[in-house]
Amino acid sequence: MTVASASREELAIHGGSPVRKTLLPYGRQSIDESDIQAVVETLRSDWLTTGPKVVEFEEAVAAWVGAKRAISFSSGTAALHAAAFAAGLHPGDEAITSPLTFAATANCVLYQGATPVFADVVPDTLNVDPQQIASRITPQTKAVLPVDYAGHPADLDPILELAERHGLVMIEDACHALGAEYRGRRVGSVAQMTVFSFHPVKHLTTGEGGMVTTDNPQFAETLRRFRNHGISTDARQRQSTAQWYYEMVLLGFNYRLTDIACALGLQQLKKLEENLARRRHIAERYIAAFRNMPGVLPPRVRDDVNPAWHLFPIRLDLNRLSASRGEVFQALRTENIGVNVHYIPVHLHPYYRDRFGYKGGEYPVAETAYESLISLPMFHGMNEDDVEDVIRALGKVLSHYEK
Ligand SMILES: Cc1ncc(COP(=O)(O)O)c(C=O)c1O
Repeated sequence: MTVASASREELAIHGGSPVRKTLLPYGRQSIDESDIQAVVETLRSDWLTTGPKVVEFEEAVAAWVGAKRAISFSSGTAALHAAAFAAGLHPGDEAITSPLTFAATANCVLYQGATPVFADVVPDTLNVDPQQIASRITPQTKAVLPVDYAGHPADLDPILELAERHGLVMIEDACHALGAEYRGRRVGSVAQMTVFSFHPVKHLTTGEGGMVTTDNPQFAETLRRFRNHGISTDARQRQSTAQWYYEMVLLGFNYRLTDIACALGLQQLKKLEENLARRRHIAERYIAAFRNMPGVLPPRVRDDVNPAWHLFPIRLDLNRLSASRGEVFQALRTENIGVNVHYIPVHLHPYYRDRFGYKGGEYPVAETAYESLISLPMFHGMNEDDVEDVIRALGKVLSHYEK
């Protein structure tokens, strides 16, 4: 045994003691007494759904991101579906998006009977490459759907410019990026429609929930109808004007967010700035610690953005390690660090392979990145010891496998 290997700590996966006694998840909500009180008050009120809290929450989110309008939905996925509908996607149309995302981004195009077309990502941020988008625009292209991967905004201006030049609707999937800034503007105020998610691992939660922000009044009207069966007025509007008559004007869904959820969202919104600051602090600690740690490549941050850090995806420098991503992943899990992987590129899922004939190799930058990606725990409720545990566990595992 060499001196170097003798000084290495024994990994938990080999019988050593784990860095932590309990599992630290990769993401988790923070709920305090004020959140619980807000929900309880709404439960005691006249409105459980589509009441005053929905309007209040929508107006608060619109004001916070700097958009004229916000329309809430029962999930980020429902919000994406509605945005795809409002963009006018139909069978025969195409929409261009990133392969390195959650399947819902591309699925919303399929819901409309249209075809998702993928464009590869750039190697630094792993966001969709505007030049790759440009090369995939055809007469059938109707929309472009950049994703703010991990909370780092996509390169929005060149994509917006392409959308304007080709008459496309730009729907930004900002489900990772509430609070992120691009060239001094908050995400939510840049694209024609921006989609957010309020799932528990996000910056703000309503349990399940989503939102579309837009400045465009026609999009806003269509989005509101689409989430309510395609009906032109909601129950509260009819009650306030003492009318029973309504008309269904398009084929919509029940994608409404409840007043109960919006009461929670309003309370969570008050803590958003603080939560973002906390996530940014954790990211800074990680980046500083990993600067001189062999085998790890921390996420790159461009100068013109301020990320919201939904995720903290590192890439492993596998040339410097004697283990695969899978082995490092298992070793970290056994140290009780709840790592994850974001994402299997969408076109490699069996459904997409079977339906569109993808075989792998089509999007080399996304596919290569995927092979080495691991998401470390990142949520605003992590304390300093939690952050230290992650850094220590990664150092322990990587020094064990260092070549
Ligand atoms: C990039 C992206 N888009 C869309 C969604 C769907 O959001 P939801 O889970 O609220 O439906 C997610 C979910 O995490 C996501 O990560």
